[in-house]
Amino acid sequence: MAFPRHRLRRLRQSEPLRRLVRETRLAVSDLIYPMFVTVGKDRRDEIASMPGQYRLSVDLLVKEASEVKLLGIPAVILFGVPDKKDERGTGAYDPNGIVPQAVRTLKDQVPDLMVVTDVCIDEYTSHGHCGLVKDGRILNDETLDCLRAMARIHAQAGADMVAPSDMMDGRVLAIRDELDRAGFAELPIMAYAAKFASCFYAPFRDAANSFPQFGDRQSYQMDPANVREALREIRSDIQEGADIVMVKPALPYLDIIAAARSHTTVPIAAYQVSGEYSMIKAAARAGWLDESRAMMESLLAIKRAGADMILTYFAKDAARLLNR
Ligand code: PBG
Repeated sequence: MAFPRHRLRRLRQSEPLRRLVRETRLAVSDLIYPMFVTVGKDRRDEIASMPGQYRLSVDLLVKEASEVKLLGIPAVILFGVPDKKDERGTGAYDPNGIVPQAVRTLKDQVPDLMVVTDVCIDEYTSHGHCGLVKDGRILNDETLDCLRAMARIHAQAGADMVAPSDMMDGRVLAIRDELDRAGFAELPIMAYAAKFASCFYAPFRDAANSFPQFGDRQSYQMDPANVREALREIRSDIQEGADIVMVKPALPYLDIIAAARSHTTVPIAAYQVSGEYSMIKAAARAGWLDESRAMMESLLAIKRAGADMILTYFAKDAARLLNR
């Protein structure tokens, strides 16, 4: 039966009616807020390419995390910005490194906020790659030892979940194994399973000072052209023990999120990355887009595609709107 019996506009006539037939809802409980933690005291450096986002010292991180919790956001994910880097990224698996310090303090002072940690050595290596390097090549299996140690140290500091983002093969299995042996069998892993070699990470690399010093990340991050391969990555991470799988970036990869949703039963996270955030910010500043509406529409689209949770730099702004 078609027009004139059916008129799809009938259900769009008023906001109460539109609310009744709405298929997707964004909630504050869907959001994870990424935060950058750095050394020192009383430090709050704005990230030039990410207006409204800061590198915070632990004391100010605690204040900001309390606000995040008050807004009802369930979790933050921490990225470390250390003062020293070296070839092997040793700062990444130093028990007194910046992230373990931040986790201990947060768990002590903002107890009910979930703390997730990013597990990857790129913020700590002088060459900026996510793996150990030999003769210009990224070593896979040798890097797994660094990731094991890093995840265990985060767990020992009190992290509630670890999130490996390096894209080495076998890292989820290695980390699961290490955590189980160290007494953290209950600690979940959120794997950056389908992480693409994307230009949209550029503002993050500015924030974390982690631009690769030679070459690029195409030998470990995925080719943006591939959807079947993304499903293989997701399947193998689940087999290795991932509890949550992530697709990253989010908005340019909605088809990957939708494919992941229809092929798996585990919860799916999507990362609205730095470049997605900065594009909206820049267009809004130029007066070309309404920032709040662009933010909400993009987050809703990511949810509609099939994400159960979204990592986003807009988390606080979106929560403020949703709480009104
Ligand atoms: C790697 C990591 C990156 C991001 C999250 N984890 C950077 C990269 O792969 O270059 C990017 C996040 C963003 O762009 O917001 N530790």
